[in-house]
Amino acid sequence: MSKKPIIVFEGIEGSGKSHHINKVSKYLDKKKINYIKIREPGGSLNSEKIRRLILNKKSNFNIYTDLLLYLAARSENINLIKKTYKKKIILIDRFTDSTIAYQHYGMGVDLNIINIINRFLLKNIKVNFTFLNIVNKKNLFQRLKNRKSLNRYDQFDMNFYNKVQKGFLKLAKSNKKTYKIIDSNLDIKTNEDLIINQIKKLIK
Ligand code: TMP
Repeated sequence: MSKKPIIVFEGIEGSGKSHHINKVSKYLDKKKINYIKIREPGGSLNSEKIRRLILNKKSNFNIYTDLLLYLAARSENINLIKKTYKKKIILIDRFTDSTIAYQHYGMGVDLNIINIINRFLLKNIKVNFTFLNIVNKKNLFQRLKNRKSLNRYDQFDMNFYNKVQKGFLKLAKSNKKTYKIIDSNLDIKTNEDLIINQIKKLIK
């Protein structure tokens, strides 16, 4: 029987994670393999409502309100994830690592609070594999500049994104077996092939 893992795509703005998750879903469509794809914040009706609130440029919540809103958005996805867990492949565009990288490493929120609420929400649900997309400063600057619709979290300075990316890398290095680092400074096709090959291994 084929495996039905939870596979997460992480990385800072402009790292190419959304491009790669879309490539993977196209691959699974072509192979007629069942899966669901969600994004965070968002992914379900209520979670998308919370996404709009958090990312609206007119919002000016403090860092704890932001944290609680990201977790609230996750809470609204958990039922869907629980229902699908081990029945279908689950692809997620950002998940718990984003909360640790942005709210803890980027904004300084206490890591314990984040871990406690994540554990409470996820219970026995475990991410099987994470693709961490990384990007260098020059490319990040260029990609952010070219973005059409800037949201509230697209507007931080380079220093912030550096801290967040370093946070992601710490998480990846603490558990090398379940992470693959995708260097988006390399050729995109090479990375697409690398990811699809890994996906094949994860689901066979
Ligand atoms: P994106 O979906 O376009 O990548 O944007 C979502 C933004 O939300 C992105 O800047 C990262 C941020 N975010 C957090 O700060 N904490 C979280 O827990 C999640 C899921 C996202």
